Amino acid sequence: MKASYFEKHGGPEVLIYGNLPDPEPRPGEIIVDIHAASVNAADVKVLGGGTYGEIDTFPYILGRDLSGVVSSLGEGADDFAVGDAVFGICERGQEGTYAEKIAMNQLLMMKKPESLSHIEAAALALPGLTAIISLEGSLKLHAGEKILIQGGAGGVAGFAIELAKYIGAHVVTTCSARNIDYVRGLGADEVIDYNAQDFTEVVSDCDAVFETVGGAVTERSFAVLKPGGRLAGIASGVKAPPSPRDDVESLRPAVGRDRKYLERIVELRDAGVVRVPPIETYTLESAAAALKKSGGRHLTGKLVIQVR
Ligand SMILES: NC(=O)c1ccc[n+]([C@@H]2O[C@H](COP(=O)([O-])OP(=O)(O)OC[C@H]3O[C@@H](n4cnc5c(N)ncnc54)[C@H](OP(=O)(O)O)[C@@H]3O)[C@@H](O)[C@H]2O)c1
Repeated sequence: MKASYFEKHGGPEVLIYGNLPDPEPRPGEIIVDIHAASVNAADVKVLGGGTYGEIDTFPYILGRDLSGVVSSLGEGADDFAVGDAVFGICERGQEGTYAEKIAMNQLLMMKKPESLSHIEAAALALPGLTAIISLEGSLKLHAGEKILIQGGAGGVAGFAIELAKYIGAHVVTTCSARNIDYVRGLGADEVIDYNAQDFTEVVSDCDAVFETVGGAVTERSFAVLKPGGRLAGIASGVKAPPSPRDDVESLRPAVGRDRKYLERIVELRDAGVVRVPPIETYTLESAAAALKKSGGRHLTGKLVIQVR
């Protein structure tokens, strides 16, 4: 199969487009002929080493979510049939969707609704799961609460804005000037251009913060919480970010993998709660360009690799 892979850590330029052996299904796995793979912010971090540690087994293929068609079944994998269009998310610790084929745990896959194209399904998978776990699971956001969603134009945060509005929260978000209309369209009640205004000076008394930017933005976000408030951060490593306050809660959502989250994404999408974000597509051969764009951290919506 063709894949976009790397043999050593580095920047997007170390990606190689070439041939690797086809995967073989283990019991409970299905082989999926990938049509579309989503580009997530984590990918460029994994490629670079450091944040997620060093990889010692090469060649290594990036990519955590996908949409495609089942081409063969491992022993006992009977939830699907060959030819089914499916989408889903890799198991924690597994990657490899920047390729023409992958062996997937069938339990983390679901039939792709006809209302979504492969590209759209791939775009919603991991960001949707992350936003659902963060808002409904970790933050337990409820109607009438005020939430600051940092980085509203990104893949996860965009989904989160729509979900928070559906829950009935008052949503404040941050983005650059060119994304103001986009995040307003998602339903944000208040939008802060982070280059023009310091969010800590114009936002206060939040019940919750969903922090997707990282670094100093995480540290400074605690200031906008009311006593008893809670912050969920997904951009500052795998632990809850250290809080400078002892009257608020800091959380690191555990982005567990389960088919029920895929079902929830489809439910929310069918109900019109969430829409498919703007998507910029790349080919498998041009995956390095997608990673370069992703690493720049200034997107509107999602980047997706169209494999076939
Ligand atoms: N994808 C997942 O499911 C997942 C799961 C777990 C953890 N994470 C982590 O969550 C973070 C976000 O991931 P993502 O895939 O949603 O990111 P993304 O799609 O790459 O989005 C990045 C967004 O951040 C915005 N941004 C950059 N600097 C900002 C600032 N100072 N203030 C406000 N907004 C700013 C950009 O908007 P502008 O262009 O307007 O600046 C851009 O839209 C990453 O650190 C990732 O590793 C993601």
